[in-house]
Amino acid sequence: MEKALEVHNLVRSGILDNISFDVKKGELLAIMGPSGSGKSTLLYHVSGLEHIEGGQVILGGTSIGEMTEDELADFRLTKTGFVFQQMNMMASLDLLDNILLPAYHACRTKAEKRQKKERALALMKKMQIDSLAHREISQVSGGQLQRACICRSLINDPEILFADEPTGALSRSSAMDIMAELRRLSGEGTTILMVTHDSKVASFCDRVLYLLDGMIKGELTFTDGESQPEKEEQILAWLQELGW
Ligand SMILES: Nc1ncnc2c1ncn2[C@@H]1O[C@H](COP(=O)(O)OP(=O)(O)O)[C@@H](O)[C@H]1O
Ligand SMILES: [Mg+2]
Repeated sequence: MEKALEVHNLVRSGILDNISFDVKKGELLAIMGPSGSGKSTLLYHVSGLEHIEGGQVILGGTSIGEMTEDELADFRLTKTGFVFQQMNMMASLDLLDNILLPAYHACRTKAEKRQKKERALALMKKMQIDSLAHREISQVSGGQLQRACICRSLINDPEILFADEPTGALSRSSAMDIMAELRRLSGEGTTILMVTHDSKVASFCDRVLYLLDGMIKGELTFTDGESQPEKEEQILAWLQELGW
């Protein structure tokens, strides 16, 4: 099976302690663990947002520690998407322009820009926020903003999506809608590495890793054909065993 991401002995002094794992192409992998265990830090490192201090990260076949700053910036823009825990939206732009921001950097022609705008609106429609395209970000709810962040992360059709608590601001039913959408994307071949606190959200995933004090302390893999309630029950029992 083709690997989308390989992490070998990743170290960040005082935060991440010798972390190794692989993610298969098209896999939907969740990371769980208590607050402060290093989940966001891990996501920043494996996505090329943070400089690697020790160990190796191979993303889409390329070792990111060996890329120049420019190569890495281009790689991140065209091959990866990121949903930030703190959202990081620009207050001076409306929702649509926030979503388009990473796309316009990659566009060369007017026709390309037009296509990206169509894609942005299609993504917004899928996330049920298309009527809010020209709202200021202060004029929408936290859940609507989070949906916009997901649209922005998908605008360049990434091969791998990193999502830090992408359902944290959503109601239960919205969270389930978003997870169904992420599940569908992974079925189409997009690799997804996400952080969540929610065992119901994690039950949409193929595998779950448990992070504690910057170390991977557990891994839960599901067998094919298990229902989501069955998976959720397993996750809850597994978390209890790990002292969650
Ligand atoms: N930029 C930073 N500089 C120093 N320490 C940091 C930085 N970012 C996070 N930390 C620390 O690293 C640990 C892990 O943080 P984080 O990755 O945000 O955890 P999580 O996402 O699991 O809640 C925490 O103890 C936090 O205080
Ligand atoms: Mg975090």
